Amino acid sequence: MKIKIGVGVLAAVWLSSCGGVQRPAQPGFLDENIGFAREQIGKEIEVIEKSGECLNPVTLKPDGSVYYCGYADWRSGFFPGSVWYLYELTGDTALLPLAKKYTGAISEAQNLTWHHDVGFMVGCSFGNGYRLTAEPEYKEVIVRTAQSLATRFREPAGIIQSWDVASGWQSERGWECPVIIDNMMNLELLFKATELSGDSAFYRIAVSHADRTLAEHFRPDGSCYHVIDYSLKDGSVRHRQTAQGYADESVWSRGQAWAIYGFTVCYRETGNRKYLDQALKTFGMMKEHKNRTADLVPYWDMDAPDIPDEPRDASAAACIASALYEISTMDVADAPSYKAYADSILVSLGSPAYRAALGTNGNFILMHSVGSIPHNSEIDVPLNYADYYFIEALKRKSDIEKAAADK
Ligand code: GLY
Repeated sequence: MKIKIGVGVLAAVWLSSCGGVQRPAQPGFLDENIGFAREQIGKEIEVIEKSGECLNPVTLKPDGSVYYCGYADWRSGFFPGSVWYLYELTGDTALLPLAKKYTGAISEAQNLTWHHDVGFMVGCSFGNGYRLTAEPEYKEVIVRTAQSLATRFREPAGIIQSWDVASGWQSERGWECPVIIDNMMNLELLFKATELSGDSAFYRIAVSHADRTLAEHFRPDGSCYHVIDYSLKDGSVRHRQTAQGYADESVWSRGQAWAIYGFTVCYRETGNRKYLDQALKTFGMMKEHKNRTADLVPYWDMDAPDIPDEPRDASAAACIASALYEISTMDVADAPSYKAYADSILVSLGSPAYRAALGTNGNFILMHSVGSIPHNSEIDVPLNYADYYFIEALKRKSDIEKAAADK
């Protein structure tokens, strides 16, 4: 899919992406997008409720039907999380029992120990649920999930192993202990679990993982590898590779998004400046990349061979926008510029180039994301995590603007 936008807009945004004035959101932008998200997710909910099952929408299959996942899928927390955010953003109490139901349906994720993604799954669902309801049972699930995730900590390397390698496509790569940059997104749950339980072991694991990732995953220009494979015996690095990017040395956009977001969280939770510095460096690399896009929605991989005719990845853009809103609230030079950049991303994502028409796109909000091109899977499709981070970004923008108005 080649994104087409008008020349005037292109010129304006091109200027902005080179460091000048950004494309600001118009008055009413937030209300309109939140209202749309509520309506579109409402249509997803209608389909689920009519089915009589607790379905969990993820993406569109090649035949155009919606793919629904089970609790063990790494994406199982995003739909419940979106419903929590929309309940919070709209105050629509009809969403509360639904958010609870969809969250409860994946509670078995707390006992899952065969992959690392439980931080995404339980953080987005139970994490938001606990933040909004203080339900004691949700707190127990968060702590139990942290215990499950901690079973994957590998002492010699000081990291959490991402994938098992005994079966599936991961068994064909010759890896011992693969760690993907995505794993940075699981650390927030560990920090939360220490806060809720008082057990500092989760915090120490998170910091160890972040420190080793900081040391091994990044190239001098701030971009990151997707996969680092460690020796289980002595913790040394065996391979630096990719699984979902174009090439081992290329810049896979969602991986950069996970790094920017994940290290921003680490700074928030620890106050250690080196994490924020890395987030800023990785963002700076994306911002200045020779293949940066005029509308700020990156190609799925910034070094993919057929740019400009490569698919974009709206999920990466949404995740970066959400992280930038948080960065704009931190002690950084020129903090408003990060909000302005995030605003510009949201303006693109909220435009007809990326935001679906009501009732289309399988009732997902955003079009044009990429799951994994090397696996020939989910190319130029809606993804529930693109929607989740888009809604989260709207929430963060709303909070920032309300706080500024109250001053
Ligand atoms: N965490 C898997 C992905 O980003 O596709």
